[in-house]
Amino acid sequence: SQNTQPHQQANNLWSSKLAFTLAAAGSAVGLGNIWKFPYITGENGGGAFVLIYLACIFLIGVPVLVAETMIGRKGGQSPVATMRTLTRTEGTSRGWQAIGWNGVIASFLVLSFYAVIGGWALVYIGKAALGLFTGADAEAIGGQFGNLLANPWELLLWHSVFMAIVVFIVSRGIRSGLEKAVNLLMPLLFVLLIAMVFYAMTSGSFGQAVSFMFSPDFSKLTTAGVLTALGHAAFTLSIGIGVLMAYGSYLPKSVNIARTAMTIAVLDTGVALLAGLAIFPLVFANNLEPGAGPGLIFVTLPLAFGQMSGGALFGTVFFALLLVAAITSAISMLEPVVEWLEEHKGISRVKSAIGGGFAIWFIGIGTVLSFNIWSDVHPLGFISFLEGKTVFDLLDFLVSNLMMPLGGLAIALFAGWAMKREGLASDIGLKGGSFRAFMFVLRFVTPAGIGIVFLYNLV
Ligand code: PHE
Ligand code: NA
Repeated sequence: SQNTQPHQQANNLWSSKLAFTLAAAGSAVGLGNIWKFPYITGENGGGAFVLIYLACIFLIGVPVLVAETMIGRKGGQSPVATMRTLTRTEGTSRGWQAIGWNGVIASFLVLSFYAVIGGWALVYIGKAALGLFTGADAEAIGGQFGNLLANPWELLLWHSVFMAIVVFIVSRGIRSGLEKAVNLLMPLLFVLLIAMVFYAMTSGSFGQAVSFMFSPDFSKLTTAGVLTALGHAAFTLSIGIGVLMAYGSYLPKSVNIARTAMTIAVLDTGVALLAGLAIFPLVFANNLEPGAGPGLIFVTLPLAFGQMSGGALFGTVFFALLLVAAITSAISMLEPVVEWLEEHKGISRVKSAIGGGFAIWFIGIGTVLSFNIWSDVHPLGFISFLEGKTVFDLLDFLVSNLMMPLGGLAIALFAGWAMKREGLASDIGLKGGSFRAFMFVLRFVTPAGIGIVFLYNLV
């Protein structure tokens, strides 16, 4: 008979129970935490935004994280095939298959711009190592970043290098590349971030940063900002995009998904908050603009590295670890695309990784150009809520604020309402009252939360 769960064959499973947690945490912790979280927090006025973001993480993100991983393990195939199988075995509408397709398309698009930012991390490893920040003031460091953005060839070069690394690792298969790096290097990144927070405490503006991040002023938060908070909760946890479905397909039955999901969410949130606490004191101490945009960490952190003793070494290590975090996330984004090419088009893993990676690289050129030659090009600017958005802004908005939250909504509805209840509690790893509480959140709170944010943004 046909095996409907090919990934669940013993030789394909993650090598240890911990391996999935590491890989999923590797996917979660990335540029989203250290690059994106601080800059969108700055753009959206701080505390109120952070509060909504935290609520989204635990009321929307965690339930979807659990549901998506559970679906992935149950289907045991690529996201598209998993959804096809499950709609059959669960006896539901075939329309739910859209979840799989949404994932493949969204992960394709997200990597196209993520790789460009990953390229920035590569550039900054070099700058730190060469001591280019040493003694430089805010203006000089801002100038370095501006020069990078202004140079499409330089951006393209490092975007290409980043994509090449990702394709290389993915083409070698799921187990060999992923597990080892995460195990050792992510804890190190955590330690380095804590060291940066301690450094930031000496800046004189730590109190101001804490109150910026944690005392909510709702007059500073717009409805669009609330959508951004929701979108970022999805982005930072890598949910709603098929990634966890793909990773979950390799997960042994013995692993408790609920507990694992909670661990991942806490780690991911911890890294983001630490990044904020490391960066905002420097922003205020140097009279920089919190809403400066995507360059925020590339201007504030180098300033600190340039002033501290041993800063060249410390900065090099920091950006190298940021690169590793970005790579483990990028690898996960390529996974749904590669699995789709493998399973549906019958293309080998190596060719799928190269072909998919090439197409993604090509689309990424749009993001490269949006920071210079196309900085005034706003492709869908005639639509009011997309006004003023460059190719990069547009891709980020489309994937993070629309496709990922809507994918998450569909996953919550599918798991909460369409799937059979039988066996669900043990599939998730919860019992009795906590299972019922979880199901209540998944069926009502999560969908209502996402629904309300979207309704408010429509009207
Ligand atoms: N969660 C990753 C980060 O925070 C980004 C990501 C998005 C990864 C979508 C996979 C899928 O950097
Ligand atoms: Na993240």
